[in-house]
Amino acid sequence: MTHLLTAAMPRDAAIALLDLAEDMHQIQDRQVKKLPALRGRTVVNLFFEDSTRTRSSFEIAGKWLSADVINVSGKGSSASKGESLRDTGLTIAAMGVDGVVVRSGSSGAPALLADWIGRPVVNAGDGTHEHPTQALLDAFALRRRIHGDAARGKGLDGVRVAIVGDIAHSRVARSNALLLPALGAEVTLVGPPAFLPPGAGPTRLGVRATTDLDAVIAERPDALMLLRVQLERQTGAVVPSAAEYITGWSLTDERLARLGDEARIMHPGPMNRGLEISSRAADADASTILEQVTAGVSVRMAVLYSLLASDHPSSADGGSR
Ligand code: CP
Repeated sequence: MTHLLTAAMPRDAAIALLDLAEDMHQIQDRQVKKLPALRGRTVVNLFFEDSTRTRSSFEIAGKWLSADVINVSGKGSSASKGESLRDTGLTIAAMGVDGVVVRSGSSGAPALLADWIGRPVVNAGDGTHEHPTQALLDAFALRRRIHGDAARGKGLDGVRVAIVGDIAHSRVARSNALLLPALGAEVTLVGPPAFLPPGAGPTRLGVRATTDLDAVIAERPDALMLLRVQLERQTGAVVPSAAEYITGWSLTDERLARLGDEARIMHPGPMNRGLEISSRAADADASTILEQVTAGVSVRMAVLYSLLASDHPSSADGGSR
């Protein structure tokens, strides 16, 4: 693996990353959370969009692997003076950094950066395109909930996952719709008509799509992943009112009761409590939301290790570009 730009990857590569994340996960139980693997390496977190989970967990992941981690944000950098992404990337590369983690509002920006700077690049979310480490951490958390400590080596075969909400604007939905089927899961996309990809029946992502959340709940899915309604990416005409959205697509207390005890409740965060998910659902025993956050550190450690550790065999195998 030379970069991590997409969640589209072969099953074997995904399971290898999830298994490596299992190894990294053990550090959570230690008093001294430090491995020497990336000593002497420098990672820049280049974030042009706001973030709590992704940026913090990449920083923690790098530090727990003993890398030096520098945070550069759009607002405080020369990007705010009009410097181009290419010039910002080349400037950072010229300082001798070993890898760049980038979040951008522009779909495709991480792939461009990867071509320009000749360093490993990790896509930490690009526009409405992809968020591959989110999909990996979602798969990791779900696999752990299902298989516990026996998760290593396993996929998500036959696991039925419904992803609900603003599919059209969601890089999380896209990356999950690419990764989860590769691991054997059956994915259904659910949302208002204007929030679903164009075309009836199987979507261009190759998974089922429907507007009927209540019918999906009646099928008793193994996991229900709620997506944040992205108020910052809406154009007024396509947004149902909050009341209409809640009526059709929110995981309300009443839908929670119908969902049953077996379904895991997932959300990438940040949540709009009371809009796409009720507080009771978010805090239920079935919720994996904080486990997903914890998994984010382990998965990002695995990704940084795979890309930057000189002793890791996949650092040049051309996996998920
Ligand atoms: N899920 C996610 O990407 O959250 P942040 O925007 O807080 O990083």
